Amino acid sequence: MPKKKITKKKIIKTKKMGARAKTVKQAVLPLAPAIPPKPPEVPQAPRGMRDILPADEHLWHAVKKEAEELSNGFGYGFIETPILEHKALFARAVGTVTDIVQKEMYCFKDQGGDELCLRPEATAAVARAYVNHGMLNLPQPVKLWYLGPFFRRERPQAGRFRQFHQWGLEALGDSHPVLDAETISIALAFFRDLELPVKLEINSIGCSQCRASYKNELVKFYTPKQELLCDACKMRLQINPLRLLDCKEAQCELLREGAPQITDFLCEACRDHFMHVLEYLDEAGVSYNLNPYIVRGLDYYNRTVFEIFPVASDDGKQKTEDRTEGEHGGEKKEAELNEDEENPSPVLNLLSSGAQSALGGGGRYDGLIEQLGGRSTPAVGFSLGLERIISYMRSRGFSPVSGRLPRIFIAQLGDAARRKALLLWHELRKEVPAVASLSKDGLKAQLEIANRLQVRYAIIIGQKEILDKTAIIRDMEAGIQEVVDYNKIVGEIKKKLAGDA
Ligand code: HAM
Repeated sequence: MPKKKITKKKIIKTKKMGARAKTVKQAVLPLAPAIPPKPPEVPQAPRGMRDILPADEHLWHAVKKEAEELSNGFGYGFIETPILEHKALFARAVGTVTDIVQKEMYCFKDQGGDELCLRPEATAAVARAYVNHGMLNLPQPVKLWYLGPFFRRERPQAGRFRQFHQWGLEALGDSHPVLDAETISIALAFFRDLELPVKLEINSIGCSQCRASYKNELVKFYTPKQELLCDACKMRLQINPLRLLDCKEAQCELLREGAPQITDFLCEACRDHFMHVLEYLDEAGVSYNLNPYIVRGLDYYNRTVFEIFPVASDDGKQKTEDRTEGEHGGEKKEAELNEDEENPSPVLNLLSSGAQSALGGGGRYDGLIEQLGGRSTPAVGFSLGLERIISYMRSRGFSPVSGRLPRIFIAQLGDAARRKALLLWHELRKEVPAVASLSKDGLKAQLEIANRLQVRYAIIIGQKEILDKTAIIRDMEAGIQEVVDYNKIVGEIKKKLAGDA
């Protein structure tokens, strides 16, 4: 019987076994080269949020240390409130028609249905804690300080982040004007101690009575010009006319010329209070600029309000009119920053670009605690923005506090020396910060690291030193080495560093 001819087509058909048969033509088409899978994208920090790296450690250390020393030195007690709070707290305290509450809070419903927010500021939470913990029964005023991260979903730009840090003080339970001067003078002492020139802009926005008549005048002043206002100010005219004053749109700044000033509308008690604040500041040697356009963007303020700005080193008398925009305004004029962009000197850029640059702000909030359900309790405080302060320090070439930087490197050769070096490191660091690269084997590699870290001395331990119970101290600048008794190393190093100082 003649053999059946087996064709290529048939083989393919058989292999497919029930699958839709392909034609030979289709089957022999060359396969398209496989597209290599895309490597997964490296996760980035959320927009407007940054890592704080060791390169800036000395700056963070300096500001935190100064903040802590001043807070303790003036008898303020530390308070740490939760990072999350009920959304309603900020709506009630900061105000439902403020930028912070309307646009900038990170809020979510948790699994239990609670509406929570990442805290955008501290004052509301401190006031809540004051009521919750019955601090009204403590000797008044209660003085508290805090330092930590805060969150506002603002448009990132130079000096404006979505996660930033504040140091702040609050003095609750006393309306005396000397407390306004006390808190302001402490804020300014911070900058003085860190040798950062700043200027204080101060105003009084009076009480609700004086503000009511002032707002009427302001509306009367702006209404005929309303078509010329920016869109945000058209809204402000309806809902919060005071905020018209700190808009940084060019046309709105022009329209502001000749606007009535709040200080002309202060009632006797508010005027008297403000005069006393200024007198106390004068007595304390604090200089200030009276600035009728400081109104602040949080609704809880009354009477004294203030902001602190950097001063360009080549222009010690930056004019009030050149002042950069208020903390809570300025939708335009934003030199928006790519979130990856590391701006070497944002504050200097800010000074010249007209972007956001208040280093801190604060004021009196006598109605807040009552508004939150507590008894009527006057209070005053401020917060400083640490990222902006650190940029400012960097721009002024702030040098590291040398005592904090490691000045000693421990190098070892061989496993016995490595073990001895670990023990020595523990002994040494109690007296002097030291570094080592214990996983490295070669002396050359270790001394290269020591050089990169710019340490002053390296302590070297090898096999011979282990046997002799000695160590070598190498002066990294002079390249000179000496052998010392192992038990005397710590003392010798301390002596040398003291001699260098
Ligand atoms: P504030 O003016 O909103 O006031 O913030 C105070 C400081 O925090 C600002 O001057 C600025 O340096 C810094 N800051 C604010 N937002 C940002 C941001 N997005 N990025 C970087 N820094 C920022 C308050 O928070 C009030 N709780 C101050 C206060 C305390 N009033 C009475 N007691």
